[in-house]
Amino acid sequence: MKRECLNKIFNQDVLLGLSYIEDNSIDLIISDPPYCLGKDYGNDSDKMNPRDYLEWSYKWIDTVIPKLKDTGSFYIFLTWRYSPEIFSYMKKKLIMLNEIIWDRRVPSMGGGTRSFTSVHDTIGFFAKTKQYYFDLDSIRIPYDEETKKARTRSIFVGKKWLEVGYNLKDLWSITRLHKQDPERQNHPTQKPLELIDRMVLASSPKNGIVFDPFMGSGTTAISSIKNKRYYIGFELNPDYCQMIEQRIDKHNKGEKSLLNATEDDVKVTNFQQAMNLF
Ligand SMILES: C[S@@+](CC[C@H](N)C(=O)[O-])C[C@H]1O[C@@H](n2cnc3c(N)ncnc32)[C@H](O)[C@@H]1O
Repeated sequence: MKRECLNKIFNQDVLLGLSYIEDNSIDLIISDPPYCLGKDYGNDSDKMNPRDYLEWSYKWIDTVIPKLKDTGSFYIFLTWRYSPEIFSYMKKKLIMLNEIIWDRRVPSMGGGTRSFTSVHDTIGFFAKTKQYYFDLDSIRIPYDEETKKARTRSIFVGKKWLEVGYNLKDLWSITRLHKQDPERQNHPTQKPLELIDRMVLASSPKNGIVFDPFMGSGTTAISSIKNKRYYIGFELNPDYCQMIEQRIDKHNKGEKSLLNATEDDVKVTNFQQAMNLF
């Protein structure tokens, strides 16, 4: 991979810019495309008719798959509306490992009256080959003290699973971002960092390359910097690209101040900043 492509967000249509990325070079693809729900991203990308949407989805999926290494993984956020078609399509090309349900923890007030209100997103987890990278230990959830105490009988003492925490299941209950959340950016479908961290940690090695074709507010970039991976991304909307730059700067300043760095220390480019973290 050309170094000048690393830790860059290209303000461009992903289908036009993919030639910058070499084939077989990406450890992890995290993709959160428009869902075909008519959202306003400052462009028409979420306003296609269903047939065009599916055709477009197949096209970008076909274009990004060759970029994955043989050990690489591919996560795709979708809704129940089009996940059946898109998963079926992807299963012809990749190994499907999971359908993860992101339970957005929507409160139970209100909702539809002629069907059941949808409160989850569907995430497909795919791998290119059976040799895919997966680090379960990096995302284990520690047992709380109550549970540990309840397991003090001799058969549990010293049990590795009790110490290292439990392995994640395919139902991820993580509260969606509210307006008052300090993480929140001015983007209509920003994903919580906690969600993306799980994917980055479990499915890419340290110093690996994470590719996000639809960066939005830059959650994948922040998670990559935080977890010491490289990122590459595309985003159509120039305002969101600016938002990402500011978000990265703020994140890096926070990191530096934790280390008691001086103001001058943080006046370097994002590229240098991220490189220095390795
Ligand atoms: C669902 S949002 C991504 C949100 C992101 N995961 C986050 O946490 O902020 C999809 C984004 O893709 C962008 N987009 C749509 N079509 C695109 C294309 N062809 N190339 C690059 N970006 C595109 C939209 O502008 C939008 O910001």
